[in-house]
Amino acid sequence: MCLAQLGAPNFPADNPLTIEGVALGRKLFYEKALSNDFTLSCGSCHVQANAFSDPRPFSEGTNGAHGPRNSMSLVNLAWADRMFWDGRVQGLEAQAHDPVINPLEMRNTWPVVEDRLNASTEYRGLFKVAFGSEEVDSTMVTKALAQFVRSIVSFDSPFDRYWYDGDTTAMSEEARNGLALFTSQGKCAGCHAPGLFTDNAFRNNGLDLVFFDEGAGAVTGDPADLGKFKVPTLRNIALTAPYMHDSRFTTLEEVMGHYNGGVHMNSPNVDLLMDFWGMNPTPFSPDEVHDLIAFLNALTDQALQTNPALAEP
Ligand code: HEC
Ligand code: HEC
Repeated sequence: MCLAQLGAPNFPADNPLTIEGVALGRKLFYEKALSNDFTLSCGSCHVQANAFSDPRPFSEGTNGAHGPRNSMSLVNLAWADRMFWDGRVQGLEAQAHDPVINPLEMRNTWPVVEDRLNASTEYRGLFKVAFGSEEVDSTMVTKALAQFVRSIVSFDSPFDRYWYDGDTTAMSEEARNGLALFTSQGKCAGCHAPGLFTDNAFRNNGLDLVFFDEGAGAVTGDPADLGKFKVPTLRNIALTAPYMHDSRFTTLEEVMGHYNGGVHMNSPNVDLLMDFWGMNPTPFSPDEVHDLIAFLNALTDQALQTNPALAEP
């Protein structure tokens, strides 16, 4: 297990993880009363079977409208800091505030959510146990949601059994070869760093010459951040299609098509780690692409998909 190598998770001093807080957060995560018309919960767009992402290219809000970005997988976020593809929010407590009032998502207001939860004796009891007060407010709701999201961890894949537990039979020869490419000449690990398979940084992997979505640059206002997006984790990547912030790729073969000849080296702010592709326009043979995909498939955590502790209570 790689936990020791990851460093300390982000547990805010004013919101430690408790059994009661996580249980309440789980109930709220699947609570449709958070949305204006009682039709959407967090779990509607973050589906357990898809590693808490959405198989639809763009999730739909309660009025059927959708935003321009793919829903993100919610694993191992206890080690993350800036949230969303563009990093516009710091921390999971602040993040949980957004979907409830987002006009493209739950389209609600916090006073309405507070009134609904305060009208429930069951919820008042659960908040009392978790936070010592039965007067429900948005701060406690977002704290509980953040606790539940921090409890979603995924470190049980064939790769983990091979790499950390020393089980040489856990990965096929193809996947082992793919791992070697991933960490050496493929340069993938420079950004998708094991064991989180993200460095939690914001980078431009050369998708576009012109940015329809400006990513982190629109948040910071710094031209050097234009076109940069959060490096997504590759854990459970076989479960989280479609791919990239705008869902432009449907399969891992299409993703590999990008890294194997499709990288725009003249894209503004393209990452220095992409230089390799500049020097090698098609760095991988068909066999190597096959092996890299076999490795990506070995990052699937089967237990996560059905873990009862993370399912709708
Ligand atoms: C209508 C669909 C929808 C609903 C409902 C929804 N989300 Fe999301 N979620 C998304 C999308 C899309 C993104 C990426 C948005 C972006 O980057 O601008 C996202 C991003 C996130 C992230 C950021 C992950 C990261 O790695 O930075 C977290 C955490 C999250 N959602 C948690 C929640 C919680 C908690 C709820 C319920 C309060 C919720 N979401 C409700 C669609 C949804
Ligand atoms: C310079 C950093 C960098 C390098 C090197 C890199 N990636 Fe990425 N990767 C990213 C970023 C950033 C994204 C998201 C881009 C976006 O959506 O705008 C991404 C997205 C992906 C996705 C889609 C993830 C999702 O959830 O949608 C896959 C799969 C992927 N990369 C695999 C690889 C592989 C395999 C390699 C090596 C051949 C590699 N990456 C090399 C930064 C990098």
